[in-house]
Amino acid sequence: MTVLLTGSSGRLGTMLRQRLGASGWDLRLLDLVPHSPDDSETIIADVADPTALDAALADGAVEAIVHLGGQPTEAVWERIRSANFEGVYQLFEAARRAGVSRVVYASSNHAVGFTPRGDASPAAALAVAGAGRPDTLYGVSKIFGEALGRYYVERYGMTVSCLRIGTCDWTPPDHRALSTWLSPDDFTRLVDAALRTEVDYSVVWGVSANTRRWWSLEEGFAIGYRPVDDAEAFASQLTESPAFASDDLVGGGFTTTGFGIDEVRARG
Ligand SMILES: NC(=O)c1ccc[n+]([C@@H]2O[C@H](COP(=O)([O-])OP(=O)(O)OC[C@H]3O[C@@H](n4cnc5c(N)ncnc54)[C@H](O)[C@@H]3O)[C@@H](O)[C@H]2O)c1
Repeated sequence: MTVLLTGSSGRLGTMLRQRLGASGWDLRLLDLVPHSPDDSETIIADVADPTALDAALADGAVEAIVHLGGQPTEAVWERIRSANFEGVYQLFEAARRAGVSRVVYASSNHAVGFTPRGDASPAAALAVAGAGRPDTLYGVSKIFGEALGRYYVERYGMTVSCLRIGTCDWTPPDHRALSTWLSPDDFTRLVDAALRTEVDYSVVWGVSANTRRWWSLEEGFAIGYRPVDDAEAFASQLTESPAFASDDLVGGGFTTTGFGIDEVRARG
């Protein structure tokens, strides 16, 4: 199956390029910027540009889109609006025009950042269900993408998986990530499951099988995700930082005043 991977030059895109390609998916890459100076493979396009998206899908070969391209953290409204609202809308519309019926959407834990993170035991893990509680304009944009995905499922019969990714990195970057880490290999397993699932609409946590995870794996299991990695293997290398009230919320530091609209604009 040919898969269009947007945001392919970014951090997560780079993880997937290497891994999904190796597991047999035929990837078509799209990003605003090339992956490297000698990269001639990537289609250079803005996901908010419908003409460019139509051209990328024109040959009818693409059967699914993995949508990572966009603004990956909090930013001023204009930036979030263009990449994460307009871009996501144009992406779904281009998919519909081209008859691409499956989209895997990179959502984020910040879609529900103001949710208390719950008990630390996996048995009491916070389930995915429930309305959004975004902690930033970025989080609001992720709820928009999840809702838009559901609309395309119900109105146009698409299959859409929304992945509420925790902390996807090569190794857990800090103590908190012992709970929120998603390893590159598990990320690939999750996207692979989302590309195969027959569940028409899903919202799942993007998290590894961490001993200290707060979030449910049940929704992931339902689409065939079987995580293997556990951040615990890195625990001895990470020291606990001083406790903040924001630690008790899913979105952590994003829930603090420093991530308010005025503060973010002042930082530029
Ligand atoms: N890294 C994480 O732990 C994490 C957690 C939650 C969600 N996510 C989501 O995963 C996705 C990828 O994140 P990342 O960490 O790889 O970020 P990144 O910034 O490394 O990669 C994003 C890529 O998207 C491209 N891009 C930005 N705007 C674009 C546009 N308008 N058109 C085309 N391409 C555009 C950028 O050039 C970049 O290569 C994002 O949607 C982010 O919100 C990531």
